[in-house]
Amino acid sequence: MTDAVPVPDTASAATPGPAPDPAPDTASDVEADGAPDSAVAIYTDYDPLAEVYAAHWGGTLADAAAPVLEELVLGSLGAGAAVLDLCCGTGDLAGQLSRRGFDVTGLDGSSRMLELAAQRAPGARFVQADARRFELPRQYEAVVSLFDSLNHILASDELAAVFANVLRALEPDGRFLFDLNSEAAYLERWDDELGFVEDDQAVLVRIRYDAVERVGSFHATTFAADPDGEGCWRRFDVTLRQRPYEAGDVSAALLDAGFVDVAAFDAEADLGLDGHSGRVFYVARKPGRG
Ligand SMILES: C[S@@+](CC[C@H](N)C(=O)[O-])C[C@H]1O[C@@H](n2cnc3c(N)ncnc32)[C@H](O)[C@@H]1O
Repeated sequence: MTDAVPVPDTASAATPGPAPDPAPDTASDVEADGAPDSAVAIYTDYDPLAEVYAAHWGGTLADAAAPVLEELVLGSLGAGAAVLDLCCGTGDLAGQLSRRGFDVTGLDGSSRMLELAAQRAPGARFVQADARRFELPRQYEAVVSLFDSLNHILASDELAAVFANVLRALEPDGRFLFDLNSEAAYLERWDDELGFVEDDQAVLVRIRYDAVERVGSFHATTFAADPDGEGCWRRFDVTLRQRPYEAGDVSAALLDAGFVDVAAFDAEADLGLDGHSGRVFYVARKPGRG
C-alpha cells in the first residue's frame, strides 16, 4: 500500500439492510474449519491509522485497477451480483462496486476503518471479522481483496485458512481476485520515507524491508492536535507488518484449497499498472456444481 452486503441474518454478523449503521457488526468467532479459536484475535492494527489511511491511500489501487477488475472478474457478473470486498479498509472499492450496481459486503478487522467505510460506501453493508477465520451466512459471486491486504497475513498456514474461508464464501463458479506483493515489491519499493503536514496533524512514515526476516514494516508517527487541549498535540506510533508471497507458492496454495483456473498476472508487465513492480494479481474460480 505504500505507493506508498444483502443478507446476513444468521449466527454471524452482518448488518441486515442496505443502509448500515456506521458501527459494523462483529462476525462469528469461528475458525476456518469451524472450530472456535479464541487465541486468534481479530486484526485491528489499522484502528489508529484509519483517518490517515483514508486521506492518503484509500482508493488508490481501487482506482488504478478498476479496468483490471472489470476485465478479470466484474465484467462477467450479472447486474446486482453479490460481491464481498475482503479487507475492505475505508470502503473505497466497496463504494465503487456498490455504485456500479453490485450487492456489496465489506469485511475488515478494524472497526475504525469500517466506520469510515460505512460513510464512504453507504450503499454497502459491512462486517467486522478476521480474514483468517470468518464465516458468513451467505455466498457471493465474487470475492475481491486489494492493496497488499493479504500480505498482512504473516504465516502461510493462515493464508491457506483465508483461501479456505473464501472458497466457502463463494457460490459455485464464483471468482476470487486479489493482489499480493512478491519479494521483488519489497526490495524495490519498501525503502522510503513519507511525510504529510496538515493543519491539525503531521504524519511521518518510514517504510523498510528486512530481507533476512522477510518482513516489511510500515512505521507511522502521528502528531495530532488535541481538540480538548489548548495547543496540545498527541503523538501516537503504529507499526504495520507485511510479508511477501511468491506466485508459485500462492498458486499452489489456491489449488490446495480447492480452487481451479488459477491465473497470476504481473501488475506492471501483464496489466500495465505502472509503479506496482512486484505486485501480482491472482484470479481463481470455485468449481461449479457439475
Ligand atoms: C492496506 S489496507 C487495504 C484496504 C483496502 N482493501 C484498499 O484497497 O484500500 C489493508 C486492510 O486489510 C485489513 N486487514 C489486514 N489483515 C486483516 C485480517 N487478518 N482480517 C481482517 N482485516 C485485515 C486492515 O484492517 C486494512 O483495512
